[in-house]
Amino acid sequence: MTAERAEEDTVAYEIVDNIAWVSFNRPEKRNCMSPKLNRQMMRVLDEIEFRDDVGAVVLTGEGSAWTAGMDLKEYFRETEAQGLGATRQAQRESYGWWRRLRWFQKPTIAMVNGWCFGGGYGPLFACDLAFCADEAQFGLSEINWGILPGGGATKIAVELMSFRRAMYHSMMGENVDGKTAAEWGLVNESLPLEKLKDRVTEVAKVLLEKNPVALKATKDAIRRVSEMTYDNAEDFLVRAQEAANSYDNDGRKEGIKQFIDDKTYKPGLGAYDKSKHQKA
Ligand code: COA
Repeated sequence: MTAERAEEDTVAYEIVDNIAWVSFNRPEKRNCMSPKLNRQMMRVLDEIEFRDDVGAVVLTGEGSAWTAGMDLKEYFRETEAQGLGATRQAQRESYGWWRRLRWFQKPTIAMVNGWCFGGGYGPLFACDLAFCADEAQFGLSEINWGILPGGGATKIAVELMSFRRAMYHSMMGENVDGKTAAEWGLVNESLPLEKLKDRVTEVAKVLLEKNPVALKATKDAIRRVSEMTYDNAEDFLVRAQEAANSYDNDGRKEGIKQFIDDKTYKPGLGAYDKSKHQKA
């Protein structure tokens, strides 16, 4: 039996070269999400979201798990024993940081190093991009212990997978490995564990080169338009770009200038040099 981990130790993070590496940090409990961890994760997201030295966030797990989903003891059994108010509070705390992450100011990448179960699909979907180890295992294990995939997991299954796969995955309670998760659309790519961090670093570095206002507008637009008609999406995208211009009206002009006038880059082959323009 290990000693109870303090709330502030349930999440770890470090910032290296403008990338915030945030880790679920309860390896002895396979990083399952307790109310303490959920509260601490929200604090960490608060701390890093608007820091100038953070341009991208990676969410990963210490030890053999990314996250083994909700903590069956502390999140389910113990809160339920305290009554409906405690249950609703625990739900607000977990759903709250996943929602925060879905609309995070900076681009986010899930780096799934190991087990990813049930409630873990909430933060998985909340991250804009996801990369995993071939060795990782993904499962909607709820059916194995007697509930439906809640906390958004059913919705996420349907968002990310085909109808047949979502149905099979949630009814059978079988795990899939990283390669299958990539094939099914749960993640962007799967690669051997020893190559995972290098690949995620490479992706994060590409994101760091992009115009951050355009990145935030783009990631939000991808999430928003999926529920819109074509005409509504068309209108929303015009307005979203015009709103983005109120934060950065010069970036795209600089982008055009460096291509058309300066001929220093080609947009089809990479990003313009954003260091050459001052934010409005
Ligand atoms: N809730 C509560 N405790 C959990 C947990 C969870 N979701 N996942 C792991 N733990 C705890 C175990 O109870 C054990 O605690 P102990 O050391 O006090 O006995 C510890 O974490 C280590 O887990 P263990 O099962 O021994 O690790 P493992 O490497 O053999 O197996 C898993 C890893 C992930 C396959 C297994 O822990 C598991 O099935 N977890 C539950 C996954 C799940 O269904 N999550 C969905 C929740 S919605």
